[in-house]
Amino acid sequence: MNDPYVARARSEGYRSRAAFKIKEMNEKQKFFKKGSRVVDLGAAPGGWSQVAAAAVGSTDANPLVVGIDYLDMDPIPGVILFKKDFTEDDAPGLLIEALGGHKVDVVMSDMAWPTTGHRATDHLRIVHLIEIAADFAIQVLAPGGSFVAKVFQGGTEHELLHMLKRHFNTTFHIKPPSSRKDSAEAYLVAKGFKGSNVAENAEEER
Ligand SMILES: C[S@@+](CC[C@H](N)C(=O)[O-])C[C@H]1O[C@@H](n2cnc3c(N)ncnc32)[C@H](O)[C@@H]1O
Repeated sequence: MNDPYVARARSEGYRSRAAFKIKEMNEKQKFFKKGSRVVDLGAAPGGWSQVAAAAVGSTDANPLVVGIDYLDMDPIPGVILFKKDFTEDDAPGLLIEALGGHKVDVVMSDMAWPTTGHRATDHLRIVHLIEIAADFAIQVLAPGGSFVAKVFQGGTEHELLHMLKRHFNTTFHIKPPSSRKDSAEAYLVAKGFKGSNVAENAEEER
């Protein structure tokens, strides 16, 4: 009701008001460059993919954005979409294959499970989603790449934050202006991926 972002989304042709969250974050953090490859986890109904496709210049002839959601989505020009649960074993491989096996510049996740109302359960479930998204990002990002993921109050688990700090030059939380003030939602941003060799070395150190 009276949400200016809903009206703006409609008039600017975005499928969701969520589109403004990645738009605002990108304006500040400049994740997307022309030609960047982007993976969108939890993409439905498609606002983030729309913003990413426009920003990187993705087209049907040369698609640079791939999205996944277990919900149905209408096609988006320049975006390859999979209807699938990202936690399934074959999901990561499908996403990378769709981008021709290339490394990725941005992994973004707006994934959230419907809440159960049981705080501890909800917390564990979101932490799990962030962890698998972060593991995926570390495997597929090109050096210099970025990872953006929705988190909730309680912030990011200490261990995950520590792991990300090893692999990225900068790691921080932001709440874009379009994220509802009364929502516990925020975004974790990790920028400047140090490269897979660093990742492998860090794994060996464990
Ligand atoms: C907040 S919505 C995303 C909105 C989207 N960023 C946009 O701009 O339109 C979160 C989405 O995550 C999806 N999701 C949650 N868990 C998922 C999973 N395990 N695999 C795939 N999609 C998932 C949900 O189905 C939901 O559509």
